[in-house]
Amino acid sequence: MRAGYRHIDTASYYRNEAGVGAAVRSCGLARNDIWITSKLPLGADDADDVRRAIDATVDALGTHVDLYLIHWPMPRRGRYPRTWQALQAAQADGRLAEIGVSNFHRAQLDRILADGSPPPTVNQIEAHPHFADNTLRHYCAERTIAVAAWSPLGAGSVLHDPAIQAMARELDRTRAQIVLRWHPQRGDIVLPKASSPHRIHQNAAMFDFTLDPRQVARIDHLDRGEAARPSRRCLTSGGQ
Ligand code: A2P
Repeated sequence: MRAGYRHIDTASYYRNEAGVGAAVRSCGLARNDIWITSKLPLGADDADDVRRAIDATVDALGTHVDLYLIHWPMPRRGRYPRTWQALQAAQADGRLAEIGVSNFHRAQLDRILADGSPPPTVNQIEAHPHFADNTLRHYCAERTIAVAAWSPLGAGSVLHDPAIQAMARELDRTRAQIVLRWHPQRGDIVLPKASSPHRIHQNAAMFDFTLDPRQVARIDHLDRGEAARPSRRCLTSGGQ
């Protein structure tokens, strides 16, 4: 928080909601200046599960959640359409401000929108220069679904790309700053992760420079459809 971050991405699955809540309370900022995203536990899919999960998240955080997501569609289970209904009901009851999804492919978004439901505020997906996922991003843009990028550095692998290294030298920026800057410039919310205070500070210093259109295009061209975390993505495949 001291480095300037104002959006915290947490989840029941990460088992760190209580720590996030403690940090939010002790950082000295007004709650309204902080945005907290959290996510339903895997397997919490009907209305009762959703009610209990929201209670547990709010209890652990010690404050409300600004955005609540279905963490994975779990397509083989096939219950995410009813989970989306339950999240809409919780929003209508005033228990959740914004609701969204994570790791949803087009077919899964089609399914939850088929009954005329309003679109999720956000779809949080893996996205980085080696895995731009533009088809899904365009689909989301057409439906006013914001895209939030997890693993925006490709789990660190993109930092080894020679083109990124060259641009970092040219612009006198770190490789991570170049990649992190690209995400919001193409319209995505970016969720960087780093462990050391040094990197956390360094990664936050990305708003005092801009990539020009040619530089953005250079990074766009690095797309090779290569997910950095295929083991996680396979959880989302194999059904609709
Ligand atoms: P660490 O956590 O040891 O700081 P992603 O967000 O794409 O999953 O990438 C996270 C990985 O990128 C982590 O291994 C993290 O390392 C590494 N990372 C984050 N920021 C930087 C940075 N500024 N320089 C080098 N590696 C970084």
